Amino acid sequence: MRTTVMLAALALIMGCGGDKGDSGDTSAPTSTAGTAGASGTAGATGTAGTATGGTERDGMTVYSEVCIACHGVDGRGSAAGPDLEPFAASYTDEQIADVALNGFGNMDPMSVTEGEALAVAAYIKTLF
Ligand code: HEC
Repeated sequence: MRTTVMLAALALIMGCGGDKGDSGDTSAPTSTAGTAGASGTAGATGTAGTATGGTERDGMTVYSEVCIACHGVDGRGSAAGPDLEPFAASYTDEQIADVALNGFGNMDPMSVTEGEALAVAAYIKTLF
């Protein structure tokens, strides 16, 4: 019994060791490192990518890429757009998001997704 278990364990260890050794010796320096690196990076990039480039940007990114030109670095407005503080104070996230998505008065609709609009709305409220 014990011997069988030991043998099985040994076989496992050797099997694993062998596999690792093999891949390590042949294709793996590149492929294992590459794969590990790729999935590690892909994971990180994937996450960042999803938030940033992929599908949705986060609120700060949307603000600095889309809204900042008219509403200023700190949301205090510029010649092209009003100070956002009163809106941050009195509008819900949904109302701010609605302005971003559909425009309001002299402000054109911005090219943001619904999720980005809500994210930037929440971000704007952190500015004041
Ligand atoms: C091209 C310039 C420009 C950009 C870019 C811009 N805005 Fe505006 N925004 C304006 C102007 C102008 C107004 C005033 C509109 C009015 O009252 O007629 C305004 C008004 C607003 C208001 C107040 C609306 C109201 O009910 O009075 C909010 C909230 C707002 N913008 C949010 C945003 C957000 C969020 C972004 C980025 C997604 C953004 N804006 C991008 C020009 C801009």
